[in-house]
Amino acid sequence: MRVAVIGAGTMGAGIATSCVAAEIDVVLVERDPARAEIADEQIRSSLERLAAKDEALQVDAALARLDRADDLCDTEGSDLVIEAIPELLDLKREVFAALDALHGPEVVLATNTSSLSVSAIAEGLGRPGRVVGTHFFNPVPVSSLVEIVVGENTADEAVARAAALSDRLGKVSIVVQDSPGFASSRLGLALGLEAIRMLEQGVASAEDIDTAMHLGYRHPMGPLRLTDLVGLDVRLDIARHLHRTIGDRFAPPDLLAQMVADGHLGRKTGRGFFEW
Ligand code: CAA
Repeated sequence: MRVAVIGAGTMGAGIATSCVAAEIDVVLVERDPARAEIADEQIRSSLERLAAKDEALQVDAALARLDRADDLCDTEGSDLVIEAIPELLDLKREVFAALDALHGPEVVLATNTSSLSVSAIAEGLGRPGRVVGTHFFNPVPVSSLVEIVVGENTADEAVARAAALSDRLGKVSIVVQDSPGFASSRLGLALGLEAIRMLEQGVASAEDIDTAMHLGYRHPMGPLRLTDLVGLDVRLDIARHLHRTIGDRFAPPDLLAQMVADGHLGRKTGRGFFEW
């Protein structure tokens, strides 16, 4: 099996890592050489962490299954393509139009979008039935979930292929209809935005709000630290989308918009609700 991953950001690199660790050949397409270099480091370091608890995983053998490329044409020969580029509908549509033209009907085209409509991404394509959402979670190599998103025209075969990939990666899949924020982003954002509003209102410190959920509810980390991990900019984009599509309860708090404007994006910039 050969999987193409488009975009070597945190999610694309994580998906590529999970695939090569599961002995799947991968081509990772990234146009920005600096980003590709960071992804190389991320993938090696992730594989080393996985190998530390799995004797059967050979880091060099896994890395040998990974090809790097900078052009969509290099995805030819793949059975499945997973797009993991920024959350911009027009950009995604452009990429899917190119992939639709490049690939025969047997190739499934998946999007890792965390909130955009899968149906909208597939709109106007010759074969919209082969487009499906495969929403992965950060950090992908240790996350057990894939949220499969079924668009208006998504064919059963595309859903089955996404589920088979999830099985092969050792992850559990859930199936969700194409609706704003699906299941995971809608619920995750509701908690994350409320935590930011509580911080704005001085209800408690960031540390204590997080501890409430971490220890009280046994979440692996609190909602503010999680927002730092995901990226404040990523969460702001999703919040704006859910505000437009679901309503006022997803209106982004001013504090979130201000922190993004100030460049405090969380772990990737060294500062968010916490120092990293
Ligand atoms: N690659 C490989 N292994 C990794 C890893 C990575 N990138 N990150 C963590 N690990 C491993 C560690 O090596 C460690 O392994 P051992 O247990 O064998 O030591 C294990 O995972 C736990 O990691 P840590 O000890 O570093 O820290 P932790 O126990 O605090 O866990 C965490 C860190 C895995 C991030 C955990 O806190 C967690 O799962 N948090 C919740 C994450 C979450 O909610 N993600 C969803 C975000 S939303 C999203 O992604 C969707 C979207 O659309 C934006």
